[in-house]
Amino acid sequence: MEKKEIFDLLIKNLDGAGVFLNVKDGMGNVNTMTIGWGSVGKIWGRDMFTVLVRYSRHTYSLLKNAKDFSINIPKVSSMNKELGFCGSKSGRDFDKFKECNFTLKSAKKIDTPIIEECEAFYECKICYRQAMNPMSIIDKEGIEDRYYKDNDYHEMFIGEILEQY
Ligand SMILES: Cc1cc2nc3c(=O)[nH]c(=O)nc-3n(C[C@H](O)[C@H](O)[C@H](O)COP(=O)(O)O)c2cc1C
Repeated sequence: MEKKEIFDLLIKNLDGAGVFLNVKDGMGNVNTMTIGWGSVGKIWGRDMFTVLVRYSRHTYSLLKNAKDFSINIPKVSSMNKELGFCGSKSGRDFDKFKECNFTLKSAKKIDTPIIEECEAFYECKICYRQAMNPMSIIDKEGIEDRYYKDNDYHEMFIGEILEQY
């Protein structure tokens, strides 16, 4: 798949039921969760994928001790049930790969595996993480009041895209 086709598929899914964010930490724990927010672009002259993960997520506790993550994009509307499950249940309580009958496959360049049943993938090496600073939210009404009433802020993880296919 071409870079642009993968990007188009990503955006369709982010506008729809989401995509899967997989992460494997330094202890070998693997988890997946659904994300609806993320961005692809150029930073430091490299292709980068940014994800936003709230502190409350099990995925967050893994990402803190991980070197990389994978983004797993289904065919549009083909895995809505699984995206719903992985977007509402926690890896603290379930082996989500098992519950969804997913096949984990080794990635090409990173430790975190990919979900074979998906259509397109980004393999990302974490380069930078940035906790949201509540003081930096300019749009208080539109963003802070709407998304952060309970102080469960996001942390941003920016990963260099090493492979996309
Ligand atoms: C469509 C959709 C999009 C989501 N996007 C995000 C996101 O971008 N960031 C986030 O922290 N949680 C997001 N969530 C919520 C997590 O997927 C959900 O809390 C999940 O159960 C966390 O799993 P974990 O505890 O195993 O990490 C989303 C959920 C859905 C259904």
